[in-house]
Amino acid sequence: MALWGGRFSSETRNEVAQYSESISFDRRLYHFDIVGSKAHVTMLATQKIIPAATAEAICSELDKIEQRIESGDFKYDIALEDIHMHIESALIDALGAEGARVHSARSRNDQIALDIRLYLRDEVDKLIGGIRDFQRALVAQSHANKTAVMPGFTHLQHAQAVLFAHHMLAYVEMLDRDAERLADCRRRINVMPLGSGAIAGSTLPIDREAVARELKFSRVSRNSMDAVADRDFAIELVSALAIFAMHSSRLSEDLILWCSQEFDFIELDDAFCTGSSLMPQKKNPDVCELTRGKTARVYGALTALLTMCKGLPLTYNRDLQEDKVAIFDALDTVKMILQVYPPMIETMKLKKDHMLAAAGDPSLMATDLAEKLVELGVPFRTAHHRVGALVKYCREQGKALNEVSLEEMKISIPEATLEFLALFDPIESIAKRDIVGGTGFEQVSKQLDFWKKTLDF
Ligand code: ARG
Repeated sequence: MALWGGRFSSETRNEVAQYSESISFDRRLYHFDIVGSKAHVTMLATQKIIPAATAEAICSELDKIEQRIESGDFKYDIALEDIHMHIESALIDALGAEGARVHSARSRNDQIALDIRLYLRDEVDKLIGGIRDFQRALVAQSHANKTAVMPGFTHLQHAQAVLFAHHMLAYVEMLDRDAERLADCRRRINVMPLGSGAIAGSTLPIDREAVARELKFSRVSRNSMDAVADRDFAIELVSALAIFAMHSSRLSEDLILWCSQEFDFIELDDAFCTGSSLMPQKKNPDVCELTRGKTARVYGALTALLTMCKGLPLTYNRDLQEDKVAIFDALDTVKMILQVYPPMIETMKLKKDHMLAAAGDPSLMATDLAEKLVELGVPFRTAHHRVGALVKYCREQGKALNEVSLEEMKISIPEATLEFLALFDPIESIAKRDIVGGTGFEQVSKQLDFWKKTLDF
């Protein structure tokens, strides 16, 4: 009979046990379940709710259970539903009725809330570390190719010449916001729900603050009903993960384009690509494509959590057991991205000549011409129009912008001088963008120094 079976007269149907078990996925919470139970029984003893000797026996038995789980010497059985009941029942097996005191003033509803909060707090710290490594890889690659020039794109059309490092540092900024979002979400994860019981707290004189101190939470939850019903912190976390995955997916899309024959800007290391079973010449950027695909999965997890919670009446409902499937899948997916991307970025090779050649397209410097006119006092709209007319003339003549003579240029731009003909060098164009946030060499160099200092390497 189940631990809760007192009022039942028949056993759970086998299919129902299979339908309702969560041990197959919540077993990964075992360490935090044990840490939480140890803090709980220690407090129960201090408050004289259970004998001190019982608390000690329970704590040392919990350590043994943890070792058994870690050595693979622990039996799982779906009849015991979840990790909480597996551990409690192992305690009772070892200590008899004294072991059963562990669950005084506690429900699985506040216990699972505690376990996931402990687990996620730990995971968030690791995720932030992983994001920092990802940023370091991007900064290292940028630093190694500080002067590499490439065309920047809008609408996937050549826009203006930029430094490759500037492009990479844009991703470093995105990842920085991801790390900030996680750190912010950690503040709301770091609230201690134990003591909320099933819904309405406990009649026993428990000391919740002591448990919070022991488990290093910043505070205890203020409302027992909210505490057992709340999964906002998980939704926030998975939403931060979804945004991170979206950033990884955008980077992946850039890399996929750049290693295509059409762009030919980079080569990814063989260790991060796969071949075709049919076409011998192929080397495909599968890792990047998989990230686009897996990002959809992380969005799916976020949608599942939001949908799961929207119709739930207060407080705990069993629907909430499914939260872990979504949370773990999103976490595992993001952790894999964090493992694969830093080495993939560090080992990718740039084809700097191809990048520079693409950035040599003189039309990328059309804006520079218009800005030169602004310097000479021409209103920008007029300047834009004149350079537009030059572009039109060139197209009609079948010439590139830098192939026209000064006389030809003067047809559209009467103010043009010889200086105008020298504006088509992408390196000069970049050098002139020397404003904060711009792609100028000096500015990007300052940004690189900033990130190296901030990321401590
Ligand atoms: N396995 C459950 C979950 O993950 C634990 C809480 C169950 N509570 C209950 N009253 N059935 O949410």
